[in-house]
Amino acid sequence: MTVTGRLRGIVAMDGPSGTGKSTVSRRLARESGAAYLDTGAMYRVLTLAVLRAGVDPASDDAEPVAVAATPRLRSVTDPSAPAALLDDEDVEKEIRGPEVTQAVSAVSARPSVREALVERQRKLIADGVAEKGGIVVEGRDIGSVVVPDAPLKVYLTASEEIRAARREAQDRKAGRIGDVEKVLADVRRRDRLDSTRKTSPLHAAKDALVLDTDHLSVDDVLAELLRLARERGILT
Ligand code: DC
Repeated sequence: MTVTGRLRGIVAMDGPSGTGKSTVSRRLARESGAAYLDTGAMYRVLTLAVLRAGVDPASDDAEPVAVAATPRLRSVTDPSAPAALLDDEDVEKEIRGPEVTQAVSAVSARPSVREALVERQRKLIADGVAEKGGIVVEGRDIGSVVVPDAPLKVYLTASEEIRAARREAQDRKAGRIGDVEKVLADVRRRDRLDSTRKTSPLHAAKDALVLDTDHLSVDDVLAELLRLARERGILT
């Protein structure tokens, strides 16, 4: 991968699942020599800890269990090999599976879970900037809550159908049996939960650039991000 420039500062990438956020965020970070933080993976690891503890993720007991697991979580911010670890165990595959995907919205809606992770995220972001000069951070509330002063905020969208089709293709690639109808129902359920929760619901920050990716390829989105970063003076 050729480095096309050097990113200075923070790019906040928000939006619902299936918009291509992870793919373009990682590529942007790789191409600009920056760090990369997947905050969704952090919520997924805490959800896994809740499931492994045998606690119902939708119950009130899930909140203290998830918060208590925060020190056991570690995030690797290298965009060529990003990783989410629980007690130093690489749980990347497990956190993408159906059990965690089904439960993560309930756990991430809990205020003290968000508080604990936002604090962690701000520290990881500061470390990424100190080490590499820049970082691309993806999630749901990055531009609105985690780093509201980020010099570039992008909110990716796409229609439900396109997002479900992309998710299903990802599942198939990961060896899981794909079912577009089921994935579409899950996309709708998670959108509803993520956008209606009380703490930091999913929405575009006022000053975010909204990019509809329905008819854009990954290369198209990446080119637009590189253009925007140059325009803002954070890619040299
Ligand atoms: O991006 P993802 O699908 O891996 O995210 C998993 C879940 O975590 C998603 O349902 C919403 C939640 N999430 C969040 O609430 N805030 C973030 N910054 C990132 C993810």
